[in-house]
Amino acid sequence: MESLSEMVWIEKTSFIDKLLEQELTISNLPAGLEADVWKLSSNTDSAVLKIWSKDSNPDVHYQYHMLAALRDKGVSVSSAYGWGYMPANHKALVTSYDGSPLTNVTDQHAKDFADLLLQLHQVTLYELDPVLQRKYDFIPYFFPRLEEHPDIQTELLQLVNDADLQQDKVIHGDLNLGNILVTQGKYIIIDWTNVQLGDARYDLAWMSFLIRINNGEELASILLHAYLSKSDFQIEEVRRFEAIACLRLLLLHRIADLPKNENAIERLNDFIMKNKYLNNNFVLV
Ligand SMILES: Nc1ncnc2c1ncn2[C@@H]1O[C@H](COP(=O)(O)OP(=O)(O)OP(=O)(O)O)[C@@H](O)[C@H]1O
Ligand SMILES: [Mg+2]
Repeated sequence: MESLSEMVWIEKTSFIDKLLEQELTISNLPAGLEADVWKLSSNTDSAVLKIWSKDSNPDVHYQYHMLAALRDKGVSVSSAYGWGYMPANHKALVTSYDGSPLTNVTDQHAKDFADLLLQLHQVTLYELDPVLQRKYDFIPYFFPRLEEHPDIQTELLQLVNDADLQQDKVIHGDLNLGNILVTQGKYIIIDWTNVQLGDARYDLAWMSFLIRINNGEELASILLHAYLSKSDFQIEEVRRFEAIACLRLLLLHRIADLPKNENAIERLNDFIMKNKYLNNNFVLV
């Protein structure tokens, strides 16, 4: 990896200057397809450096300012220290080091996560600087190459049409258990590549759907009911968004050949059969 001193900074805080003066140990953190993530540590400080691959083109400038705005409004997010370009023009962002994901998620954690989500979704459009009020077309943004999968497309268009999509809240766009870290008993939401104005029900449903598939129905339902007990949303509208989330996962599966986990596939099939908004033809064999 290139060192931090090779970064061309677009914006940075004094914390970066302090880091640059120190001897840093660098270690790799486990990351997904679009980025490499590194932990930087000195004797006294730590930080995380995320470097995006060339073919992903995130708006890091937007992400940097959104993190600052959310933190300012009391949402538990990483501190943004600086951003810029690594050699070969890879975009990079430096944030706080915020701990690690939970290895064992209890019922109480699920309830706490509901509060975290509610805290994020309480931020209204009007509290945000107009430059941060960015929306995307929901379907093209979250459903790449959809037209190559007409079965998913037909079902999705109907569901989205019936959902009466709102784009009035700050959404994370990829809430999952890997993106909530814990440090000293405090939760922090990380990985804000997809932050935008969107429908809070989608944000909630994507997370509850993934938990349902990966961890089981019980935990998902604790999260969902804890959230709904403090919100005006109805369970049925979230179920429809869970169906939308499921179609997204099926599409990503076809495109990317994600790792296959027998239990998860069984739970996915079970979900498809039980969810009244989804056609049973989607059951995987
Ligand atoms: N601020 C942080 N503090 C501690 N660990 C972090 C932090 N940011 C990322 N990590 C670690 O690195 C992993 C990958 O980071 P992240 O979730 O941002 O990338 P990703 O899922 O690969 O991203 P993307 O969805 O943008 O491709 C996280 O799951 C976490 O273990
Ligand atoms: Mg992540």
